[in-house]
Amino acid sequence: MRFAVFGDIHGNIEALRAAYDAAQQAGAEKIYHLGDLGGYSPFVNEVVDFLIEHSIEGVQGNYDEAVANDREHCGCKAEDPVQEEMANRSFAWTKEHASRNTKEFLGNLRSEITFMDHGRRASLFHATPRKNNLYWYEDRSEKFFHEMADKINADILIYGHTHKPYRKDKGGKIFINAGSVGKPKDGDPRACVTLVDIAADRVGAEFLRVSYNVEKAAQAIVTSGLPGYFAEKLKEAG
Ligand SMILES: [Fe+2]
Repeated sequence: MRFAVFGDIHGNIEALRAAYDAAQQAGAEKIYHLGDLGGYSPFVNEVVDFLIEHSIEGVQGNYDEAVANDREHCGCKAEDPVQEEMANRSFAWTKEHASRNTKEFLGNLRSEITFMDHGRRASLFHATPRKNNLYWYEDRSEKFFHEMADKINADILIYGHTHKPYRKDKGGKIFINAGSVGKPKDGDPRACVTLVDIAADRVGAEFLRVSYNVEKAAQAIVTSGLPGYFAEKLKEAG
C-alpha cells in the first residue's frame, strides 16, 4: 500500500490543505496523521473538522492529550525561558479556543495504530507508543534505536514529534520520522508530507516538501492574538 503520513499539523490549516492535495496527487491510497493537531497556529478546530471530513485517521500527540484534559502544561520541552513563555501562551490560547467537540476528538485519539501489509507490521504513534513527548531525533544512540526496536512489535515504525524527518534502517527494522506538516523545524518552511510505499520486496519512504502560502499562515497567527514569535518561527522553520 502507498500511503501518506501527516506529522504535527499544529493548527496550520493552510499547510494541511496543501499537504492533502499533494498526497492525493501522489496517489496515496490512505492518509494517517501523527497527532499534535493544535498549538502555535490558530486553526485547531478547522484542522479537526478537515480530518473528520476527509476520514484521516491518526494517533494522539502530547499536545492533544494536554488540551483535551486541560493540563497545566503541553508537555513540550523548551530550550530557553523565552521559548517556555511563548509555549505557555500558545498552550493557554489553544485550550481557550478549542471547542468542546475538538477537545472530545483530541481526547479520543488512540496512542497507536498498527496494521499488516505485505507481511510487514507497521506501527504509527506520536513519539513512542508509551511516552508521547520523547524526542526521537535521528542522532539518538544505536542503543536507543535497538531498545525501541525490541520494545515495539513492528517492522516499520512511523512517528513524529521532533518536526525533523528522517529514515533509518537498523537491525531489519525501518524507522521513519515523518517530520511536520504545519510547523517544520528543519529549516525548510514547506509542509512535509511523508509517502510510504510498502511492497513485497521493498519499503519506500519519500519526504515530499509542499509549498503553500506561509505568509498567509503567518499573518493568521498574528491576527489571532497568538504571539508573533510563532509567525517568525513558521517562516524560518526553526
Ligand atoms: Fe509537535
